Amino acid sequence: MRKPIIGGNWKMNLGVPSEAVKMLNNLISLVRKIELVDVVIAPPFTVLESVIKVAKKSNIKIAAQNMYFKENGAFTGEISPNFLKKMGVEYVILGHSERRDIFYETDELINNKLIKALSMDIIPIVCIGEHLHQREEGKTKEIIAYQMENTFKNISKEDITKTIIAYEPIWAIGTGKTATPEQAEEIHSYIRSLLVSRFNEEVGNKVRIQYGGSVKPNNAEAIFSKDNIDGGLVGGASLEASSFYEIIRAAEKLK
Ligand code: PGA
Repeated sequence: MRKPIIGGNWKMNLGVPSEAVKMLNNLISLVRKIELVDVVIAPPFTVLESVIKVAKKSNIKIAAQNMYFKENGAFTGEISPNFLKKMGVEYVILGHSERRDIFYETDELINNKLIKALSMDIIPIVCIGEHLHQREEGKTKEIIAYQMENTFKNISKEDITKTIIAYEPIWAIGTGKTATPEQAEEIHSYIRSLLVSRFNEEVGNKVRIQYGGSVKPNNAEAIFSKDNIDGGLVGGASLEASSFYEIIRAAEKLK
């Protein structure tokens, strides 16, 4: 069975070491040692070092929210995967819809980053998802298939099983509008079917697919209870220790 994974994407929040450390200490005092669920926090780059130190007291792993695909050089403002690796970052979120929409990241760029992350043994959490107008036009599956093909271009069977996919319908991110558990499950099972037809049944069964978009303590259990949903990528509700803890508990209870 697939182990659920709960990610907390802090986005551009809690970026000062004192506040980030306080939040993480609060969270650790609630969760202590987690065994049945993987928990990953993605804080801003400015606090990675402080947060990594504190996280060592627990099983919580640390992700970066982004990275570039080159290791060094004249790339002002970018962060090298090499820096992340040396600091002890174990995961990286790639292709979040905010990166795609606000910073014009393309499937090709995300694919380059994905290949680089895998080559450096940083576990990628790759986000895909449709806009509201695309859903309303009945194009959700077409968009998902396109992103799956292009974001995951030239990825081997071995590498795709190390990758975590986050299905995040863009209309549900930060809006308080969640996909219903049934809507989410439909797309998760579709993503799995794409993995089966491109790779094989074993790969389809192995890859963990998180749901993201307004996951809250009051809807987490219903969403995570679906067969093809392996936890969640949480934004807003990950900023507060008790609400994030309740979401982790929701995943743990189902195990
Ligand atoms: P949200 O964000 O939980 O605030 O909707 C989810 C995400 O962007 O990963």
